[in-house]
Amino acid sequence: MIIVLLPRSSCRPLISLASSISAHNTSPCRPDPFALVAPQLSQIRTDLVRLLGSAHPGLEEIANYYFLRPSKQLRPLIIMLLAQATNGLGKNWSLKKWTSEQARPGGRAESLNEPLSRANILNDWNPKMEAQTSSYDSLLSLSLPSTPTQLPVPPTSICSTTERTLISPAFILPTQLRLAQIVEMVHAASLLHDDVIDESPLRRGGLSAPEAFGNKFAVLGGNFILGRASIALSRLGDPEVTQLIASVMSNLVEGEILQMQDVESPDGQEFPSSQVAKKAWTVYLQKTYMKTASLMAKGARSSVILGGCADGEIYKEVAYAYGRNIGIAFQLVDDVLDYEAVEDTQLGKPGGADLQLGLATGPALYAWEEHPEMGPLIERKFSGAGDVELARTLVRKSAGVERTRALAVAYATQAREVLQALPESEARAALESLTERVIKRKS
Ligand code: FPP
Ligand code: MG
Repeated sequence: MIIVLLPRSSCRPLISLASSISAHNTSPCRPDPFALVAPQLSQIRTDLVRLLGSAHPGLEEIANYYFLRPSKQLRPLIIMLLAQATNGLGKNWSLKKWTSEQARPGGRAESLNEPLSRANILNDWNPKMEAQTSSYDSLLSLSLPSTPTQLPVPPTSICSTTERTLISPAFILPTQLRLAQIVEMVHAASLLHDDVIDESPLRRGGLSAPEAFGNKFAVLGGNFILGRASIALSRLGDPEVTQLIASVMSNLVEGEILQMQDVESPDGQEFPSSQVAKKAWTVYLQKTYMKTASLMAKGARSSVILGGCADGEIYKEVAYAYGRNIGIAFQLVDDVLDYEAVEDTQLGKPGGADLQLGLATGPALYAWEEHPEMGPLIERKFSGAGDVELARTLVRKSAGVERTRALAVAYATQAREVLQALPESEARAALESLTERVIKRKS
């Protein structure tokens, strides 16, 4: 089932980038989401290399490894488009805008690189940025540093501004651009770890990091990125955003653990039972949120918080609901594509990693409803001789793939629906278009 979206009234030229999500046909009159923020997407990528500098060249190479290959950049895209679709609407916008021009934490772009602690305390050596460390050659003697300079205080007129209209032309605050980088860093760190867990030989058209550098360095590289992402997060100067993004880091780990969880019948019950299947679905959707949607949902919410949207206003809720729904849709499509790649194995294309990893995703769980013999295969994680092939056959004979796709469409449609609480804008139209592309993507 494919959703058909009504064309919008304001037509713009379509510019397609060569990413898998952006490569598909866009409905006429919908802006290309990637084209709308193409310069910023390219800029944040270049700047990321600066954030990940290390005195250890090997560590720097691993940390940057996945950023040097083309990626979908879906997460930064969502963050930037939501910034463009809401900046100016929140009650704290004027304050955020004023702060973005000041030399202070959460302020102008250069300030976001400034350490909050003195160099000889922070000791975080990044040769690509100003000195944030000191020498260890001498004994550290006690000294009282000079009192820090007073931070600029916002004029009272700024706090009381009541005008609430979308900023035109659309623009993105330095903190929101930095957030987009932080979110990409967290994502890349999770992929470095994921490729160790999944023993993946390939990623983004090349060798995976564990294959290229070994497991130990891939894990350490991921941890290093998380450390640098946390430093950058603290310099955004917003405790709620820090909390949201830090919680994504634990969600990712919990999602990965949930994914490993066995599907098993409670003591004394026959397997399969409807309760076991229901629980398997609950765990699957929970895992899908934690592993994939959490970063999009909380990243999106953080973006509008940094743009001055406050509690009691609808914008934070829109951002979170959009990110969560599109994130779940994205992962459901991923799970479908894994089966479609299996279908292509006869044509020499690799794929079908999920069953090999013992994972029962949407298509297998739906197939279980039609073919009870799927239950024992799921329970033993497709580990028996011929299990993977039998599971593929059962999925093929069932409506599992179509039903998972239909579920993805339902989540994507909901993501588009919640956007209707925002004023019309090109960025909103691009976010709408993204929900369609996530469903249509082929890789
Ligand atoms: C890709 O899934 C993996 C993730 C989206 C998250 C992985 C999370 C961890 C390994 C926990 C560690 C977290 C941090 C923050 C270091 P996939 O295997 O389904 O997709 P793939 O085909 O791209 O590998
Ligand atoms: Mg993987």
